[in-house]
Amino acid sequence: MKILVINGPNLNLLGLREPDVYGMATYDDLTSYIQKTANELDISVKIVQTNHEGDIVDHIQQAFGRFDAIILNPAAYTHTSIAILDALKAVPVPAVEVHLSDIYEREAFRHVSYPSAACVKSIVGKGFLGYGEALAFLKEYVSNIK
Ligand code: DQA
Repeated sequence: MKILVINGPNLNLLGLREPDVYGMATYDDLTSYIQKTANELDISVKIVQTNHEGDIVDHIQQAFGRFDAIILNPAAYTHTSIAILDALKAVPVPAVEVHLSDIYEREAFRHVSYPSAACVKSIVGKGFLGYGEALAFLKEYVSNIK
């Protein structure tokens, strides 16, 4: 099973950015955690990070035929991007949305998630563990639809 993990803007600055919200662990720590968890679950994983909305759209489009599922943290584009929602709707690859923080417990402008309408599950507020939960969920989900 192959899963594409897409991380959006400013997640490359984990460890530096707002440690009170996101903690002290770095982006490298996050990718190591995802890779280790994927290995344990016998999942092949590719992890990408971009600060650009169109790149996220490209990654979603290119996942079709190449990956069994997508894990997506669109970061701030969560709250603005109809283009990312449309890409997820266009491509028949199941996606799980993950947020490190609980967007529904933060500022009102973070309470709207456009991509969630096209995701089979949303996981918020669990830090790195949210990615592990998404991997385990998709392993089960994909094997049930195959
Ligand atoms: C985030 C939450 C978003 O509101 C924010 O813009 C981010 C990170 C999270 O993982 O908690 O950049 O997606």
